Amino acid sequence: MPAWHLRDYHDDDLDQAIQIWDQCRPADEDPVFPVSEVMAAAKAGQTAVVAVVGDELVGMAVAQAQGKRGWILLMALAARWRERGIGSALLAELERRLRALGVRHISALLPAGAAGSKALANTGYRSRDDLTYFEKLEPLGAANADVLAALGGRMLPEGLWDAMAGMEREKQVVERRVVLPLTEPALADRYGVVPPKSVILFGPPGTGKTSFAKAVASRLGWPFVELFPSRLAADTSEGLATALRDAFADLAELDSVVLFIDEVEEIAAARSGKAVDPGHGVTNELLKLIPVFREHDSRLLVCATNSVRSLDAAFLRPGRFDYVIPIGPPDPTARAAIWARYLRGSGDSVDLGRLVGASELFTPADIEFAARKGAQAAFEREVAHREGRPAGTEDYMAAISDTRPTLTPRAVKEFGEDIDTYSRL
Ligand SMILES: Nc1ncnc2c1ncn2[C@@H]1O[C@H](COP(=O)(O)OP(=O)(O)OP(=O)(O)O)[C@@H](O)[C@H]1O
Ligand SMILES: [Mg+2]
Repeated sequence: MPAWHLRDYHDDDLDQAIQIWDQCRPADEDPVFPVSEVMAAAKAGQTAVVAVVGDELVGMAVAQAQGKRGWILLMALAARWRERGIGSALLAELERRLRALGVRHISALLPAGAAGSKALANTGYRSRDDLTYFEKLEPLGAANADVLAALGGRMLPEGLWDAMAGMEREKQVVERRVVLPLTEPALADRYGVVPPKSVILFGPPGTGKTSFAKAVASRLGWPFVELFPSRLAADTSEGLATALRDAFADLAELDSVVLFIDEVEEIAAARSGKAVDPGHGVTNELLKLIPVFREHDSRLLVCATNSVRSLDAAFLRPGRFDYVIPIGPPDPTARAAIWARYLRGSGDSVDLGRLVGASELFTPADIEFAARKGAQAAFEREVAHREGRPAGTEDYMAAISDTRPTLTPRAVKEFGEDIDTYSRL
């Protein structure tokens, strides 16, 4: 075989460098130093060396110096050029350059058995088996983080989906229609399923619409941005339309986002048809913004409303929203699950069946409130009397009769009618 020699890395080596790098790293694992970082260091000069045979690149080593410390970011050798001393020669050349930069302590972090381990061992590097490599990946790039902060958005913790108790019917619909096509895009595409871009959640107050929107963002691992029409600083309807347009423009800079508009009826109420209708311009603005929002992948608009019947008909037309999903009052099974969730402290001593029966017309929010009230009463009793008595069924029954349910038979009936008229799944 012809002889190899070393030289500086040039930018036109990039393609070949990536090829040999791919050859020598485990396919299923991300490298500690990603290609972008390695190539940026190589471009910065000084500490990137390649081994070549004629025009062929057969080895490469890249390091980074920082004060007295040098890190070897990359050791790559073409498969058929191993065991020829090329690795050791690349290392010796890197060391010479690092030393000239004042480096006194050189480290390398390689996957077990990677190309280059042997060369390191042969040139006096000691392997440390007593260390564990930790890493934490920030889910957002810096630019995204700025935009997100400016919009008042944030990453939500994992696990919000599992924290939604009961509500199995709603959970299934949201999971199948909304979450899965977005988490399984390749499979969805194979079956001709178009992932949703915008959905409406409607239902009485406190049934969990906001919680569902957050739970979806949590499952997707996308940032969550919430727009409150009432808080978009604006005195006039033109001002509101402009604020809305600006917010959507800022959002476009994010790689992915769940945008949540609560109380959407405030900006998309039926237009009266009168030329002076103050809501008219804002509704129109939102109607224009939605199609543009829908053009991009990795974005989901979730609008919530307590009053789907007051929304403008044009707003609800297919094409703007993929699904119009009812989030209803919890049935007895769901109420039992929600009670159980909020009774953590008292567990088995409570007769769940009685609480469920007594809390008809309660929303999840009402149950949360009553559970807290019951626990608080028991706690106060304990502070006063120190009897060691846990919160029991009677404490919660008292709290239930003290809590005014959000729902009324009429609201439940109207919600049923709304499901028939508006829901689209
Ligand atoms: N499935 C659930 N399990 C446990 N808690 C729930 C569930 N759904 C809602 N909650 C709780 O009920 C409260 C109200 O929920 P949320 O704010 O999501 O309702 P909403 O439908 O958005 O209400 P609104 O129409 O008033 O905005 C929250 O504190 C939430 O934690
Ligand atoms: Mg809400």
